[in-house]
Amino acid sequence: MMLEIEELHTGYGRTQVVSGVSLTVPDGAVVSVLGHNGAGKTTLLRAVVGLLKPSAGRIRLDGEDISALRPHRRVDRGMAYVPQGQQSFGQLSVLENLQLVADGRRDGSGRVAEALDMFPALRPLLARRAGLLSGGQRQQLAIARALITDPRLLILDEPTEGIQPNVVAEIEATIIALSKRSGMSILLVEQHIGFALQAADNYYVLAAGRVSSAGAGGAASAGDVRKAMLI
Ligand SMILES: Nc1ncnc2c1ncn2[C@@H]1O[C@H](COP(=O)(O)OP(=O)(O)OP(=O)(O)O)[C@@H](O)[C@H]1O
Ligand SMILES: [Mg+2]
Repeated sequence: MMLEIEELHTGYGRTQVVSGVSLTVPDGAVVSVLGHNGAGKTTLLRAVVGLLKPSAGRIRLDGEDISALRPHRRVDRGMAYVPQGQQSFGQLSVLENLQLVADGRRDGSGRVAEALDMFPALRPLLARRAGLLSGGQRQQLAIARALITDPRLLILDEPTEGIQPNVVAEIEATIIALSKRSGMSILLVEQHIGFALQAADNYYVLAAGRVSSAGAGGAASAGDVRKAMLI
C-alpha cells in the first residue's frame, strides 16, 4: 500500500478540523478526495506531507510509519506536494523554477526535459518570469516542478481551481496521463465531481472533517457524492 492514513486527527491550535479520517492509496492508484469549501481537504493533505502535526492517528508510506518525519524527509521517500493556488517563484523564469528543483539531483537536466514533455505548453515560456504566467500556466509549472523529484506519490490540491476551462481540460488530460505512468500513485483533491470520479480508482468524500462516503470511482454517481458532501 502506497499510503495509509489511519484515524487521523489534526487542526489548528484547539480547533480540530480533521476528525478521525482513514484513507488508503493503493500502489499505482489514483484516489480523489472531494468535499465542499472548508471540509478539511487541504488540512488533511498538510498533515500527510508533514506541514501540520497530527494530534492522533498514523500515516504510513509503503508500510513505514512516517507520522513523525519532517516534510523534506517525506519528499526524500517519494512524496511530492503541489499546494492549492499555483505557487511558484514569481521573480524567477520558468526554466529557473524547474532548475531549482533539479539542481543537485542525479540526472537533473534529464528530469527537467521529462517534466516538460508532460507539459509541452511550457516550452515556449521557459525564459518568461513565472509571475507573468497565467493561472493555468502557473499550475502546469507547479506540477512540472513536483515531477522533477520523481515522486512515487503525487499529491495535488485542487489543480484546476480558478483556471480557464480550455486549460482545465489540458491539465486534466495530463493528470490522467500521469496516472497511467507505472509506479506513480496520485492523491487528488478536487471539487469538480465529474473529473474526480473519472480520474479516480477510489474516492473519498470529506464533510466537516470526516469521511462521509467512499467507494470505487467508476461505480459512484455524482448525485450520491453531492449528497455526501452535505452531511
Ligand atoms: N491556518 C489556519 N488556521 C486556522 N484555521 C484554519 C487554517 N487553515 C484552515 N483553517 C480552517 O480549517 C477548516 C478547513 O480548511 P481547509 O483549508 O482544510 O478546507 P478545504 O476543504 O481545503 O477547503 P477549500 O475547498 O476551500 O480549499 C476551515 O474551517 C478553515 O477556516
Ligand atoms: Mg483546500
